[in-house]
Parts: sequence; structure tokens; C-alpha cells
Amino acid sequence: MAQFLPNTYRGKLIIVEGIDGSGKSTQLALLNQWLRSLGLVVSFSEWNSSPIVRGTTKRGKKKQMFTPTTFSLVHATDFADRLERHILPMLEAGAVVCADRYAYTAFARDVARGVGPEWVRNLYRFAVKPDIAFYFRVPLSVALDRILRGRASLKYYEAGMDLNLSSNIRKSFGLFQKRIRKQYESMSKEMGFNVIDATRSIQEQQKEVRQVVMNTIGDALENDILRVSR
Ligand SMILES: Nc1ncnc2c1ncn2[C@@H]1O[C@H](COP(=O)(O)OP(=O)(O)OP(=O)(O)O)[C@@H](O)[C@H]1O
Ligand SMILES: [Mg+2]
Repeated sequence: MAQFLPNTYRGKLIIVEGIDGSGKSTQLALLNQWLRSLGLVVSFSEWNSSPIVRGTTKRGKKKQMFTPTTFSLVHATDFADRLERHILPMLEAGAVVCADRYAYTAFARDVARGVGPEWVRNLYRFAVKPDIAFYFRVPLSVALDRILRGRASLKYYEAGMDLNLSSNIRKSFGLFQKRIRKQYESMSKEMGFNVIDATRSIQEQQKEVRQVVMNTIGDALENDILRVSR
């Protein structure tokens, strides 16, 4: 299957993955804070945040016009734009780039939507391989609890309503997340994920996350990464 390109830049790329509510953003925000406190230049990139497809995404979602293939292509465009205009230049400059979701999100979600696994992997073959890919593993019930507790409503596509799994939006969301989780589990080894037991407390997980970062790229953080001038 298609491979990512090696990261030959001075900077380092750290990404987080996992089902909705697994605690990715919480952990990445804390990691980001810590790396900055060490005086390192850190840049952040979030899934589906590129201005280049914003209008299309909004319209497609509102009018429920996306098929699994067009939805996948829109996300790949978003990703390509962020990669070429933001992530790669920051890596070249020597920053640590922290990405909240990466191509693996497409591999999990698009395949859960019925897109071919080889097709979607091939689509993202221009991506750079992360130096560390964290996968926050939680049972479905824990993630659903976390996400549904504070949420009055779910959106059509995030709940996978386009797949006709159930007419009940909460039920559909659960069934869709279950499919996505299965994809994450099956690619975990293949992709070399650093698996974090995300059922634990925020502090316990963060301690392990920082340890993994130090063990994996500690040398580079000390010697290669761009520092904020004080
Ligand atoms: N270890 C934890 N224990 C209990 N609650 C947590 C834990 N980590 C995060 N949470 C809470 O769970 C909710 C979801 O966390 P977070 O937003 O970090 O998840 P996420 O994986 O980024 O979700 P999404 O994919 O929807 O962006 C938040 O309310 C957060 O405060
Ligand atoms: Mg998040």
C-alpha cells in the first residue's frame, strides 16, 4: 500500500488520532503548552481548517450533497493545502508541528463510509510521515459518554447520518464511531501508532505523552528545533 514520505526536514511532526471524545485535543493542547514552555517554536494545525474548502464544505454539509467520495476529496484538498502552505514550511523552518488529526482520520472515517482503503491511502501518499503518531484508545462507551454529556445536538455528517445506519441521530453516531474505531484498531500496527490508554486521567496520560516525546525526539528537541529568542 502507498507509503508516506519520510520527514527529511529539521522540524518534527507530532500528530494525535482517535475517535471523537477520546481526548486528543485535550492532550495535544497540554503537550503544546509544555513544548512552548521549553522555549521551542511550536506550530499547530487542525483537521478541516483550511480556508480553501471552507465554502464548499459549508454548502455541501448544509445541503447534504456529499457522497463518501466527494467528502473524502474535499478533506484531502483541505489537508494538501494545510500541508503545503503551513505544515511543510514550518517543518522546514525547524519548528515542532502539532497536528490535531492527520491523514489517518481519512483512512478511518472514509473507509468507515465505504471508500476503498487502498484508494484513500493512495490519495494521501504526498503526506509526510509523522515522527510520532499518538492513538488515544478508548472503549466506545467512554468516548460517547464524554462527547454526549456536554452536547445538546449532533451534526448530520459527524453522526454518519449519510450512511443510513439508524434514523436516530445518537444511535447513528454510536454505530458510526464503532466503525471508525474498528479502522483505527486495524491500522494501529501497520501505521506504527503510539497507543495511549485514554481511559486514564488527563494528567496520567499527559505524563506518558511527554515521556514518549522525550524518548523519541528528545535529542532533536534539545539540538535541532528552532527556539524562541528571548
Ligand atoms: N482523560 C479524561 N478523562 C475524562 N474526561 C476527559 C479526559 N480527556 C478529555 N476529557 C473530556 O472529554 C471531552 C472530549 O475531549 P477532547 O475534546 O479532548 O476530545 P477529542 O478527542 O479532541 O474529541 P473530537 O474528536 O470530538 O475533537 C472534553 O469535555 C474533555 O474535557
Ligand atoms: Mg478535538
